[in-house]
Parts: sequence; C-alpha cells; structure tokens
Amino acid sequence: MTAASGIARRAAVVCGVGAALPPHIVSNADLTARLETTDEWIRSRTGITQRHVAGADMSTTDLAVRAAAQALADGEPVTAEALVVATTTPDRCCPATAPAVATRLGLTGIPAYDLAAGCTGFLYALATAAGLIAAGTARTVLVIGADRLAALPDPEDRTTVPLFGDGAGAVVLRRGSADEAGALGPVVLGSDGTGADLIWAPRPGALHMDGGDVFRHAVDRMSAASLQAATVMGWELSDVNRLAPHQANSRITSFVARQLGIPDGRQLSNVGEVGNTGAASIPLLLADATADGRLKPGHRTLLTAFGAGLTWGAVALIWPDFPLTRLPEGVGHDR
Ligand code: UT7
Repeated sequence: MTAASGIARRAAVVCGVGAALPPHIVSNADLTARLETTDEWIRSRTGITQRHVAGADMSTTDLAVRAAAQALADGEPVTAEALVVATTTPDRCCPATAPAVATRLGLTGIPAYDLAAGCTGFLYALATAAGLIAAGTARTVLVIGADRLAALPDPEDRTTVPLFGDGAGAVVLRRGSADEAGALGPVVLGSDGTGADLIWAPRPGALHMDGGDVFRHAVDRMSAASLQAATVMGWELSDVNRLAPHQANSRITSFVARQLGIPDGRQLSNVGEVGNTGAASIPLLLADATADGRLKPGHRTLLTAFGAGLTWGAVALIWPDFPLTRLPEGVGHDR
C-alpha cells in the first residue's frame, strides 16, 4: 500500500444530512409590533422575512439531538463512532453539550465534544471530524451545528434582534476515498482576534455588534477562503455549481458570489425563512436545498462561513447521492 492510497482510504465523506427548527415562527410583522422597525427595512437590508425561535422548553441539546437523529435516519445506514457539536450557545457553561446529545441518541461511550468558532463553527467541526477519521479514531462522525442565537441580542435592540434565529443541522461523515462523491476537500480555516470586539456577548441578552465592519470582513474573508478551497481542489470558480454560504444576510452572500463571479442562480439561500442560525446555518441550508432539489448529486459545491472571533473558512466537495426521506416541517421549502 502506498502512502497516497492510505490517505485516499481515510478521506471524510458526507453520507447523511439532517436539520431541526423550533416550530415557533417570529415574522417581521411580529417584530414591527414591538420594535421601531419595518418589514421593508429588514427585508431590504438583510433578506430576512421570518426566523424560528425556540421556547424555554427547547434547548440547544434538544435541537442538536433532532437534527442528528434525522441525519442518521435519512442517510446511509451507519452508526456514529464520534460526535462533535459546534455551538456558541451551549445550554450550560459546563459540561459540554455533545456527551448529552450522544447519550440521548443511544451512543453513550463514544468520543463527544463541543467546539466554539462562532458562525464558522460547523466548518471547524467538519475539519476536526475529518481529522478523527484520518487519525483512525473513528470511522463515522456526527457533525452537528446547533445554536439559539435569538437569545443573544438585547430584546430592545432593533439593530440585532431581526437578524438571528434558532436551529440545528447535522451531517454524517464516514471514512471513504478522496475520489468519491461526498469527499471533503481540505478545509480552509482562519481567525483574527484583533476583531474580537466586532461581535461579542458577555451573556445572553447583551450582544454587541459593529454591523458595518462585520459586513465588510465577512465579504472579504468568505470570498478569499472560497477561492482557496476551490483552488486546492483544482477547480476554476466557473466550475462551481452551488455556493452554500453561511446565511447571515442576503446582501453579504450576494457580494461574495459577485466577487467570485458565481452567478446568483448558483447561490443557495434560506436566510429569508430562518435568519442567521450561527453554526447551524450551513447544514440547515444543505438539508433544505437537498430536500427541494436545488442541491443535487454531482453538484460541485463550495461551503463558506464567517463569524465572531473573527473566524472564517471554506471547503469544497462534490455533493453525494443518499436517501432523504423525513425532513421536518419548515425544511425543504417549495420554490
Ligand atoms: O454571522 C455574522 C453575524 N453578523 C452579521 O453578519 C451582521 C453583518 N452586518 C449586517 O448584516 C448589516 O450591517 C446590518 C443588517 C446589521 C445593518 O445593515 P446596514 O446596511 O449596515 O445598516 P447600518 O448599520 O448602516 O444602519 C443604517 C441605518 C441606521 O440609521 P442612521 O444612523 O443611518 O439614522 C440604523 O440606526 O438603519 C438603522 N437601523 C434600522 N432601521 C430600521 C438599524 N437597524 C434597523 C432596523 N429598522 N431594524
């Protein structure tokens, strides 16, 4: 066996996707009733028309369990041997969310841990999960992004409340070969702590954000990371069939697509229906677009994210073929 074939056997391959949204929807009209804002302002500045918000009876752990259970049920039949939860809104400071999620899935005993990298958390989690597979620690890993970002803003702050929603998304990764559909390319990641004060929250209900600066950094970092992730795959940007960017604001993602020269029709979006769901954003988008056929097997797909930290990342893959049967209400909108 050559070193190259050894590496190829240990690529991380996407083989299932799932999502979960709280049933309660807060529309722009609901917000205009209690904040000095308008539906027109929110839609034109962000593209958001509604967001799902969890009640006190639905925790980050609950959302993570639902998304993960669906990813396991709907993808290739595999048992997870490790579990990573990306979240900046864990239910408790200590312990981590992941062991409880694993236990509720009937997976007590497997390695399970959280990581926090803001809205880029899901891509950081993909990278560490691919590392677990490459290291031989696990043959299959559940990668979950789960956040309750709607709880972060001051409820009276019209500049941040409209942006955020709650949810969770998950993918299953299995050991496979680098040349099969679903194999992740190298995950491009970065951070810049000099921007730590651009988005920060000392506690729920007290988010501070410099929206304009965050906007500019998000466009620049996601564009550069996307280009790098495509280049390491040997792709031209014109080869990309689908751009799946973190759903923070439709103007940010349109700027990214424009900078990359990717036509609008190749850009996946669901920010209008779910708002910014943090680490859940990309897997929720993948589940949504797979369910309604915008994302199809064989599509050359580029994922990219940006978030608090500052953090950013991107990864490319050819979208795989796996069964998807039981998406929850609100995921897989008719378009
Ligand atoms: O995952 C990363 C997390 N964060 C983000 O991605 C956020 C990135 N930034 C953004 O999405 C945008 O900067 C915002 C949507 C937050 C703001 O859009 P903007 O075009 O940058 O608006 P702005 O902050 O420049 O505000 C323009 C005006 C201001 O009024 P003045 O000072 O010009 O009189 C705001 O007070 O809009 C006002 N404004 C609002 N008006 C009505 C801010 N929020 C609202 C609101 N309704 N909800």
